[in-house]
Amino acid sequence: MTSRSLLLAIGLVATTSLVAAGPCDIYASGNTPCIAAHSTTRALYNAYTGALYQVKRGSDNTTTNIAPKSAGGVANAAAQDSFCASTTCLITIIYDQSGRENHLYQAPPGGFNGPDANGYDNFASAIGAPVTLNGQKAYGVFISPGTGYRNNKVSGSAVGDQPEGMYAVLDGTHYNGACCFDYGNAETNNLDTGNGHMEAIYYGDNTVWGSGSGNGPWIMADLENGLFSGVNVKNNAGDPSQSARFLNAIIKGEPGRWAIRGGNAASGSLSTYYNGARPNANGYNPMSKEGAIILGIGGDNSNGAQGTFYEGVMTSGYPSDATENSVQANIVAAKYATTSLTSGAALTVGKSVSLKVTTPGYDTRYLAHSGSTVNTQVVSSSSSTALKQQASWTVRTGLGNSGCLSFESVDTPGSYIRHNNFALLLNAGDGSKQFNEDATFCPQTSLNSAGTHSIRAWGYPTRFFRHYSNTGYIASNGGVHTFDAATSFNNDASFVVGAGFA
Ligand SMILES: *[C@@H]1O[C@H](CO)[C@@H](O)[C@H](O)[C@H]1NC(C)=O
Repeated sequence: MTSRSLLLAIGLVATTSLVAAGPCDIYASGNTPCIAAHSTTRALYNAYTGALYQVKRGSDNTTTNIAPKSAGGVANAAAQDSFCASTTCLITIIYDQSGRENHLYQAPPGGFNGPDANGYDNFASAIGAPVTLNGQKAYGVFISPGTGYRNNKVSGSAVGDQPEGMYAVLDGTHYNGACCFDYGNAETNNLDTGNGHMEAIYYGDNTVWGSGSGNGPWIMADLENGLFSGVNVKNNAGDPSQSARFLNAIIKGEPGRWAIRGGNAASGSLSTYYNGARPNANGYNPMSKEGAIILGIGGDNSNGAQGTFYEGVMTSGYPSDATENSVQANIVAAKYATTSLTSGAALTVGKSVSLKVTTPGYDTRYLAHSGSTVNTQVVSSSSSTALKQQASWTVRTGLGNSGCLSFESVDTPGSYIRHNNFALLLNAGDGSKQFNEDATFCPQTSLNSAGTHSIRAWGYPTRFFRHYSNTGYIASNGGVHTFDAATSFNNDASFVVGAGFA
């Protein structure tokens, strides 16, 4: 090859990568442009360089915007890590990349109130859902029960029976059966205004309304007053249970027709689980869509569900299967992969540990238990064997997520620290998904400099082991409960994890 043809070849490669389209470029070329594009992990347009999301930190309540590292690229997670060092951070806004300013904000109270003091939903932790895209770190939106985002004044979204499409990349292993982990079109007044007033992706194993085959979880459509898997109100055996760690979920609707599609967001192609008539019940044909956008909640702010959102869009017009297939190829090429959920010195599975309090004036105390109450007690080398055992915990692989840990009681084998109503309890494991998740905690680098670790609840990553009035909780840095007090939070939520007493 001559040097001239080599240069030409390099030029071709560069040109090819420059024209590589993002998901919303693909929808635009299919004449079904995005009217909203939300992602905390990457730009969804090839040319997008603006803000992806806003985080707010606990240390001084200031905010910063996180943008892609380059046009069309992956979020600058390092900027978040630096802004959030030694404090807590929340995702306060998820920006719309479409230019229409259809941003997602803290969801307001509705038919159901959120848990914050004013009835709003909680914000998601900024660190609950770390991933890599093509090896570069980014963070998704980890929705715990009580968490939700919304925009009721959306520009350009489908109303009435107008056609639209949407996809969302989700964690297929993070779900529950409560209502409703949704992304999509909903009521503009936060209330249930009747059948057909929503058209949103639902993901979970709720069976109150509809279901697919197996035990779930399923991709279904929340069309209001019902989760639908097909034309029959109750069941569509063609809508399979999902298990992919990264899941692309698709819902689209146009007059007289709608579809459910999905596939592994990390490999392969999409399948169509339903494509046909509107559900066999009053109020769904024609539809009465209102055009708000929700994330993590139902249309009336039902906020009991959990799930993880990485990216998603809403379109104007009914996208073709071919357009969606190209978007799927783009998502697969983004190479979503898992990464560590923990940081700080590794805790060895099988070893006995103690957790020493670091709050000045309380630092002779250790996390211990008295019966089922998890508390702090003063423990030393001269303490009784019984007390030493009460303050010693065997590190186990996380019962609910193997990327984190569980803490088994040394004196009561088979019993684990779990949270219930945000109190830490020592309870016998029962093997249930709920118990296992409530007994799973992710150690990270200590929030203060005196400790070695702070210990985050896997299912509520805004919440950490905290001692308050010498009792154990999972607490957030500020919030509605007394034990969520921002005062002394970093100290109360930081421990020296050392060798067990027994
Ligand atoms: C942050 O704001 C909350 C409530 O708005 C307040 O309770 C808290 O003290 C503030 N924290 C700081 C460090 O200013």
